Amino acid sequence: MILIVGGAGYVGSVLIKEMLARGYAVKVFDRMYYGDSGIRDNLERIKLVEGDVRTMDDTVLDGVEAVINLSGLSNDPTAEYNPKANFDMNTRATERLANLCKAKGVKRFIFASSCSIYDVGIGNDEQDIVLDEEAEVNPKAAYSSSKYQAEKILLSLADKNFCPVILRKGTIFGFSPRMRYDLVVNTFLKDALSKGQITIHYGGEMWRPMVDVRDAARAYITCLEAEENKVKGQIFNVVYSNFRISELALRVVEALRGVNVESQLKPDYRYQGVRSYRVSGKKIKRVLDFTPAVTVEEAVKDMVESISRYRFTDFDNPRYYNIAWMKLLEEASKIIKITGSVFDVQTRPFQPSIVGGLDKVVRSR
Ligand SMILES: NC(=O)c1ccc[n+]([C@@H]2O[C@H](COP(=O)([O-])OP(=O)(O)OC[C@H]3O[C@@H](n4cnc5c(N)ncnc54)[C@H](O)[C@@H]3O)[C@@H](O)[C@H]2O)c1
Repeated sequence: MILIVGGAGYVGSVLIKEMLARGYAVKVFDRMYYGDSGIRDNLERIKLVEGDVRTMDDTVLDGVEAVINLSGLSNDPTAEYNPKANFDMNTRATERLANLCKAKGVKRFIFASSCSIYDVGIGNDEQDIVLDEEAEVNPKAAYSSSKYQAEKILLSLADKNFCPVILRKGTIFGFSPRMRYDLVVNTFLKDALSKGQITIHYGGEMWRPMVDVRDAARAYITCLEAEENKVKGQIFNVVYSNFRISELALRVVEALRGVNVESQLKPDYRYQGVRSYRVSGKKIKRVLDFTPAVTVEEAVKDMVESISRYRFTDFDNPRYYNIAWMKLLEEASKIIKITGSVFDVQTRPFQPSIVGGLDKVVRSR
């Protein structure tokens, strides 16, 4: 059985489907922040354990042969929102999980890292080159540095009983039954469909390595099935291609035109702390003969069809945007601490301070 920690998320939901199709037995451990929409269709075919990776019990590893860790905070805004929680989940919990695996004899451990650790920023011509897994990196942001630190810890744990593999994925696009519209191509698609207009921040000058979510899922399976000597202690970038953001927007507009959706581009030249990096995907091709295959255009067409089939057209729903959803959950949990659950009988006598407290929560939005 393969344990996918964070398996109910955007990537995990697609990965689980692929793995079940290949006959794997799958166990998912997840905090279920975004609900079960991504795994609902497969709930009867997987074993689901709800919980937090920071405190996961080692009994979850009973009967498990390999672990894929996709859990934690998965973008810059959520990591910046609570850097401590981000570090605890992305770095410390990964270390703890790896040590639990080692102690239990679970050898293969595949970690979801990110190409954002290569970020060189904009206007830095000397560093604006295609970087590979050997490149020196020095990530500064909360998210990317937490991933990089987790990588270093995992690699230091490699030995004859433990086989860590690091996948540095580019920015992902495409449809997942746990949909995200806070990823650049998906955002463009959502803006085109809902407003008929795509805004390109900073003129779209930034470079970004990109990969479709189905290709990302296939990369995990490739690493799961690869001979140990090819993957142990290895880092692999998972990238279909590098695009400037402006080119990505043009491709989305053209692909949508092909399905009779018209949209306009609107460049916005204000600087907004943009990320920019180009990354080589050659190593995974050379070592594991793995090549991402899904184009941006194919993914856009598939998304148009799938989001209407699954009714993910309520584009303003905060659930599709990790930072909006996390903030909403935080706010709701603070309010519920004061009011209790909405339709429960109110047992406490009225206290004026409750009103004051609520007011404070609402004003602090
Ligand atoms: N989506 C991308 O473009 C991208 C790119 C590179 C790397 N990654 C990495 O790949 C992984 C998966 O990304 P995703 O887009 O599916 O993210 P996601 O946010 O959709 O999914 C993360 C999942 O982990 C779960 N989770 C979060 N914190 C947890 C905790 N403390 N305990 C247990 N479960 C927890 C969430 O409930 C969610 O189901 C992440 O580690 C992310 O950093 C994603």
